[in-house]
Amino acid sequence: MNIVYNASAGTGKTYQVTGLYEKLVLEENIDPRKILLMTFTENAAAELRMRVAHRFQKARRTAEQHDDFETAERAITALNHLPSAPIGTIHSFCTKLLREHALDAGLSPAFSVLQGDEHKELLDRICREELLQKLETDPDFRDLCSGMHIIGTGGFGSSITESIPKLFEAADSAGITLDHAVNLLPSPQSLPSLADFSSILERMKELPKLTAKAQPVFQALETLIPTVGSPEELIEKLSALHLGKFGAGKGQKPISDDFFALLENGTNTLGYTQRFPAAKAYAEYAQIVYRKFKQAKHETDAVDFADQLHMAATLLKSGKAKPEFRYVIVDEVQDTSRIQCELIQSLWNEETYLVICGDKKQSIYTWRGPIRR
Ligand SMILES: Nc1ncnc2c1ncn2[C@@H]1O[C@H](COP(=O)(O)OP(=O)(O)O)[C@@H](O)[C@H]1O
Ligand SMILES: [Mg+2]
Repeated sequence: MNIVYNASAGTGKTYQVTGLYEKLVLEENIDPRKILLMTFTENAAAELRMRVAHRFQKARRTAEQHDDFETAERAITALNHLPSAPIGTIHSFCTKLLREHALDAGLSPAFSVLQGDEHKELLDRICREELLQKLETDPDFRDLCSGMHIIGTGGFGSSITESIPKLFEAADSAGITLDHAVNLLPSPQSLPSLADFSSILERMKELPKLTAKAQPVFQALETLIPTVGSPEELIEKLSALHLGKFGAGKGQKPISDDFFALLENGTNTLGYTQRFPAAKAYAEYAQIVYRKFKQAKHETDAVDFADQLHMAATLLKSGKAKPEFRYVIVDEVQDTSRIQCELIQSLWNEETYLVICGDKKQSIYTWRGPIRR
């Protein structure tokens, strides 16, 4: 049976899950090696393993007290199999899967996994090298850095280099790769034209009477349009006036709506257009760092946690790796990122039941018809 346990912390989800594990092994005689039990942190994984072991020890003692030697024997076998049973973090599952299918995953079987500090140091070094390179070659990047007060401060470049790992993490959990980060930036749209504003003015002139609230808009348009040199200038000057909406008089509301929509669109577009060179310079920087980091990992035959998840998910989806679990049980499932969720889903098939536990009232992921308990 597929099950979802959804309850707050401390309500007994892990208790239920380890109880289910015990029942599957002792009552349904399922080999512990056919039950994948995963969680997200090393500590939680260690606790799960310990709680499962305790359950079998207790079951063994109880069975022996009741002369139920069959159950006692099963508990002993389970305890013997436990060290090789797949109970651990989602990352440890990925590492094992990738080791077993390294060539299919495009890795050497001796690949290394970049741990926290190594990962941080390598990425940090590339961030710093590329920061200097980009500062030398890109005036827009220099403008961005000086605008952020990065140049000339004690912690040289740190705010921009520190933003990169955060960006990578955010992109990863959103399922976005930054290989082509620059292409992800929408191009600035064209600004509303002076003619667009003139037509608002014309419509106001056609009205029989303007209310007091409409007057400032009318006057602003009438004086500014002939004197400004560009739509940019007009939009900036109109925004600075902080004009108020009007619309009480006959036929005025649609004009007011159109005018303020035009002005808002103009202000937003102008802001984006003005910031675009800096955004592009930053995206280029992120893209270069991303590619160099990827290359460095490739050259040293290393993967990081994010790579492991992607590679394992791809392996499973391609069918090149087909672990045959009877049960896939995931504790603390509210911590799953999109890619982890995909990975869990690709472990779920006709022969496999899925049991997930979490304490979010609402999951942001759509599961395929689980049973709620
Ligand atoms: N049905 C139960 N009977 C006895 N103890 C329970 C039961 N459910 C939970 N507990 C105990 O309550 C505590 C919290 O349970 P736990 O499973 O860790 O909660 P959760 O995983 O939801 O945070 C644990 O010490 C657990 O052994
Ligand atoms: Mg728990």
